[in-house]
Amino acid sequence: MKKLIAGNWKMNGLRIDAQELAADIVNGIYKDEALLERCNFLVCPPSIHIGVVRHTLQNVDSVILGAQDCSAHENGAYTGDISAQMLSDSSCAYVILGHSERRQYHEESNELVAQKAILAHESGRVTIICVGESEQEREEGREKDVVGAQLAGSMPGSCTAKNTVIAYEPVWAIGTGKTACVEDVRVMHAFIREKLKERLEDYKNMRILYGGSMKPANAKELLTVENVDGGLIGGASLSAEQFLGIAKEVH
Ligand code: PGA
Repeated sequence: MKKLIAGNWKMNGLRIDAQELAADIVNGIYKDEALLERCNFLVCPPSIHIGVVRHTLQNVDSVILGAQDCSAHENGAYTGDISAQMLSDSSCAYVILGHSERRQYHEESNELVAQKAILAHESGRVTIICVGESEQEREEGREKDVVGAQLAGSMPGSCTAKNTVIAYEPVWAIGTGKTACVEDVRVMHAFIREKLKERLEDYKNMRILYGGSMKPANAKELLTVENVDGGLIGGASLSAEQFLGIAKEVH
């Protein structure tokens, strides 16, 4: 399985920045095409920049376009929201759901994430469902309980290995420069794989990404851990050099 190198641009940059970043990534891959033998690339810009990035990625096969969220409703009076169908219409093949920042700042529950995922799957999107414990939950030794409950509650019955990717992102490692140690990542990814086994026949083919302060300097050790099938990258995905630098560590 190729590693999925996914950029979550979060709420950063203006239109011109998004355009340049996408173009720089495409050019970087073009110069080092061997990267495509080992990795798939995904970028998830802020929704208002999806149009410009889509334009930049026209006729480009090497980089997939995705979004950072979608609505739990099909359409209607939901001011500010974007439906899965709209993402489909704008060529977003993937959508990140249940990111810890949305769980925290928008009080998204597992049930809401699952509802979003159902509509995303119905529209043919691939969902990246995010899970991860807080620092306090880890200190209390509850990380597996938390992640297990998030998986059970956020993954609807429509999840298959083809339409779903899991991203394990310990909340305390996101944007903090702190990375989970290799052993913690190994243990949690093995746990997630076991949980997937309980409910999916093709559980081995479902990608599990690690996310949380991934950068070129730590990518090699993280991406070689068993059951780590790629990275969900925030800060370092805002520089084409760093983003592709992570992919260059995949051997
Ligand atoms: P980070 O973010 O790489 O900046 O820690 C990862 C994420 O939140 O997806």
